[in-house]
Amino acid sequence: MNAVLRPAPEPTHRVMGVSDLDAVLAIEVTAYSFPWTRGNFVDSLAAGYLAWLRHDAAHRLIGYCVALPGFEETHLLNLTVAPAHQRGGHGRAMLDALADWARQRGDTALWLEVRQSNHGARALYAAAGFAEVGQRRDYYPAERQKREDAVVMRLALDSGIGAQLRGTGDALV
Ligand SMILES: CC(C)(COP(=O)(O)OP(=O)(O)OC[C@H]1O[C@@H](n2cnc3c(N)ncnc32)[C@H](O)[C@@H]1OP(=O)(O)O)[C@@H](O)C(=O)NCCC(=O)NCCS
Repeated sequence: MNAVLRPAPEPTHRVMGVSDLDAVLAIEVTAYSFPWTRGNFVDSLAAGYLAWLRHDAAHRLIGYCVALPGFEETHLLNLTVAPAHQRGGHGRAMLDALADWARQRGDTALWLEVRQSNHGARALYAAAGFAEVGQRRDYYPAERQKREDAVVMRLALDSGIGAQLRGTGDALV
């Protein structure tokens, strides 16, 4: 299966491939109680989703993101920084790069879901300008066979065709 490669935006970022998945999964299982499986990543690459790696100056993998580009909107599916590198600005840098990429392709919004209990990630997204716009009940698995709600967050990009039409005063039908 071949992934449709989407160019990574800056030198510290590189497009994820199947050969990177051992390193990616080594981080994934340390960063989450309920990590993505190898199959989740393989399917995302095969489907042509945007998937970037972030490296430090010594070319060590420190994080990654996966996103699903849709019509005028992109949906962030996975944003992860290795625990040893968290709070170093890497999550924000990947998020900003993704927002720039989405803006450049004409998206109006970036969407994501985040666990209600994930206060660190929610703080990051709020600091980056995302608004909490809804909830999905029992969206995630949780400890002891329970489920946890997701908070739905949206970043308005104001760059899509709709925004351009609004900018010229034309009605959007
Ligand atoms: C959430 C995550 C991606 C954030 O990446 P990061 O590189 O650690 O975050 P950054 O250093 O870029 O943080 C930028 C800002 O976000 C906020 N923030 C990030 N993590 C935070 C935390 N744990 N607590 C409070 N605020 C936090 C702060 O405002 C921070 O700015 P500051 O450090 O100047 O105060 C990372 O912690 C991670 O991978 N966590 C485990 C996986 C996960 O939960 N992913 C998100 C799933 S939706």
